[in-house]
Amino acid sequence: MLVDGGGSLTRKDFERELTDRMNLKSMVELGYDVTTVGVGDVFMGVDYFRERFAEVELKVVSANVYDESTGELLVEPYVIIEKAGVKFGVTGVLDNNASIRTQRGLESAGVTVAQPKEVLEALLPELEAKCDHVVLLAHMSLKLARVLAESVPGVDYLVVGLQAQKSSSPFEVEGTVFLQPGNRGQFISDYRLMFDSDGVFQQYEPNTVELGNKVPADASMALKLKEHKLLAEGLRKERAASMAKEREAARRAAQTDEVTCLGVEASCVRCHTEQYDHWKTTAHAQAFDTLQRGFQSTNPECLRCHTTCQTELAQNGSVDVPDDLRNVQCESCHGIGTEHARDGSYGVIRVETCLGCHDEDKSPDFDLATYLPKVTH
Ligand code: HEC
Ligand code: HEC
Ligand code: HEC
Ligand code: HEC
Repeated sequence: MLVDGGGSLTRKDFERELTDRMNLKSMVELGYDVTTVGVGDVFMGVDYFRERFAEVELKVVSANVYDESTGELLVEPYVIIEKAGVKFGVTGVLDNNASIRTQRGLESAGVTVAQPKEVLEALLPELEAKCDHVVLLAHMSLKLARVLAESVPGVDYLVVGLQAQKSSSPFEVEGTVFLQPGNRGQFISDYRLMFDSDGVFQQYEPNTVELGNKVPADASMALKLKEHKLLAEGLRKERAASMAKEREAARRAAQTDEVTCLGVEASCVRCHTEQYDHWKTTAHAQAFDTLQRGFQSTNPECLRCHTTCQTELAQNGSVDVPDDLRNVQCESCHGIGTEHARDGSYGVIRVETCLGCHDEDKSPDFDLATYLPKVTH
């Protein structure tokens, strides 16, 4: 019989589904009979847990994890597994320790977890009556598992599911045989039970096997693992590419945000038709055409003064001023439309407004007294 102490689902935030499917399928292929609900298994919530386990023929038992929304047990409390005529009753419990709950996301997982001790005291008599050996998959630390074994009699074998270190020497706590294989499938606790010719249990022969280089790789599993890694890498590359795109888009958005001129057609014209009609007759409304006529409409040296709000233009010849900001529009003189107040403070004209473009070089004849009346609406 092959059992697992729980926590098969990954908590990786990315490629999670891919990895979880791979893990569970592999457990089935490796011949696992049963596992239990671990803290990481419910990290993504009850629905995700159910979806993943529904995809595989892998039994999962737990006597103290409840679906919060229904109050029902999340999975079967136990299962009876018969091997060579011997009946094993396998149940599982999850540590309900509060710190684990808050640290590891149980609080929001949609489950409630009952006291392992209370649940087991109620369950074990029923289970013992139905089987020869009781196996408890205890998803908790060694320390808590010890306390549990000391206070709850009736468990024959206890698999410690949440202890990073393995134990290389076998041990018992109050008559309960502990199997402590450590984490991440690096070791297995290979405990062989021996019976006499009448089928009466004699003893167990404990062994801890390191799944290192000395254990030959299973060819079919190795291939599957390789395929999985390739798929995961593909996903990561896709993700990196899409993130780069997002960053680029955000960068661009931030750039265009700096130039938030609304443009006359999109904004001012609908409320200020009179000023608009007048403006249309001024040279400002033709300023971009002037550049086009001279084949200079992509020359950043010229665009600064012959368009609206184009203060920071690339100097590499690649500029393309959007249609709605061509010519010297309202916002060139009155300022960005987003700052339009209704209290008379917006758009006040000063001589400096003109001098930014009408400098000595480009507008040597500029004289406010003669120029201003030509643009005042
Ligand atoms: C510093 C701002 C500024 C820059 C830069 C600028 N211009 Fe002008 N441009 C003006 C102003 C202001 C006038 C109007 C001058 C006046 O009449 O007093 C003008 C007028 C002109 C006229 C005359 C329009 C007409 O029909 O009377 C042409 C042509 C012209 N610019 C082309 C260009 C070209 C080409 C460039 C780039 C090489 C350029 N400008 C760069 C501000 C500028
Ligand atoms: C060349 C600079 C310039 C441009 C371009 C310009 N205005 Fe004006 N605008 C003025 C001046 C000068 C006044 C007179 C008031 C002042 O001196 O502050 C004025 C006044 C106004 C007023 C106040 C009411 C009035 O008519 O006196 C409104 C509204 C207005 N402009 C809207 C617009 C709109 C809309 C556009 C674009 C279609 C526009 N302006 C383009 C310079 C400009
Ligand atoms: C939703 C309508 C609306 C839009 C759009 C609008 N304005 Fe106005 N604007 C007003 C009103 C209302 C006033 C208050 C003065 C008045 O009664 O004309 C005003 C006043 C002004 C004034 C005079 C200063 C002041 O605060 O009274 C200027 C200049 C002006 N607008 C320019 C613009 C420009 C430039 C745009 C486009 C970027 C624009 N407006 C878009 C409604 C609008
Ligand atoms: C964003 C730059 C810019 C600003 C700001 C600007 N101008 Fe101009 N102005 C120009 C350009 C460019 C021309 C030439 C347009 C063309 O003919 O192609 C021009 C042309 C003119 C002309 C026509 C000149 C002629 O000989 O026909 C007058 C008048 C004028 N501007 C007045 C003003 C006044 C007054 C102000 C300030 C209230 C002002 N401008 C602000 C860029 C600007």
